[in-house]
Amino acid sequence: MPAQPRSPSGRPYVVAHTAVALDGATTGFEPDQGLFYRLAAGWNEDVTLAGADTILAQEPALAAAPRPGPAEDGPLLAVVDGRARVREWAALRELGHWSGVLALHAEATPPRPADRSVPELVAGAERVDLAAALRALGEREGVETVRVDSGGALTGALLTAGLLDEVSLLVHPCLPAEPTAHRWHGSAAAARFTLVESRPLDGGLVWLRYRPAD
Ligand SMILES: NC(=O)c1ccc[n+]([C@@H]2O[C@H](COP(=O)([O-])OP(=O)(O)OC[C@H]3O[C@@H](n4cnc5c(N)ncnc54)[C@H](OP(=O)(O)O)[C@@H]3O)[C@@H](O)[C@H]2O)c1
Repeated sequence: MPAQPRSPSGRPYVVAHTAVALDGATTGFEPDQGLFYRLAAGWNEDVTLAGADTILAQEPALAAAPRPGPAEDGPLLAVVDGRARVREWAALRELGHWSGVLALHAEATPPRPADRSVPELVAGAERVDLAAALRALGEREGVETVRVDSGGALTGALLTAGLLDEVSLLVHPCLPAEPTAHRWHGSAAAARFTLVESRPLDGGLVWLRYRPAD
């Protein structure tokens, strides 16, 4: 994919790339992870922006995961963690996917252990101010593109705030095994979208890319 334009506000280009079942569910089915990450690689993101619940869902597996060390040329992992719930910062840093980790907090975020080694960015009073956090990320050298990794809540908050430049859905031809509350969603802030790509893929999957309409 060619380099993406910055928004007029100066923040980086922000894309949410999500694997979904036919009903929009983001959990309760087996996404094609290999395909998901091959497509994601096209954005060559400078920052992976994840929600705390997305990271917490991985924490049990993280404890036993190999730790080759930070990926020198990898993106930065920034985690929206308004309630300081994420614990496995060292494992995330050493996982080999990211060059480093950054905790995004608000002023009301509970106190953190004094010996915690993760750098912090504090933006917002009660919750993380997502616009301010993205602006601050965009001021870091080399940060042009942010890829959002979210099961729906963070994507929804960004959509509602008009902070998403692209919605990418990898649609799987299945339904979740159990009813789930996790769906990709957003409210009416950007109600209309322009289709920029629609690609049928093996196994009945479809890749859809939309930009909010002007
Ligand atoms: N299918 C996929 O592509 C995919 C991708 C990623 C994850 N997942 C799955 O999705 C699940 C997690 O998704 P989720 O939707 O529960 O959570 P999520 O996307 O990880 O988002 C939760 C985070 O968003 C923050 N947030 C929500 N609204 C906000 C607002 N208005 N202002 C500031 N911050 C806000 C929350 O802040 P606080 O910290 O303040 O609560 C929390 O940190 C996991 O099971 C994971 O495995 C699926």
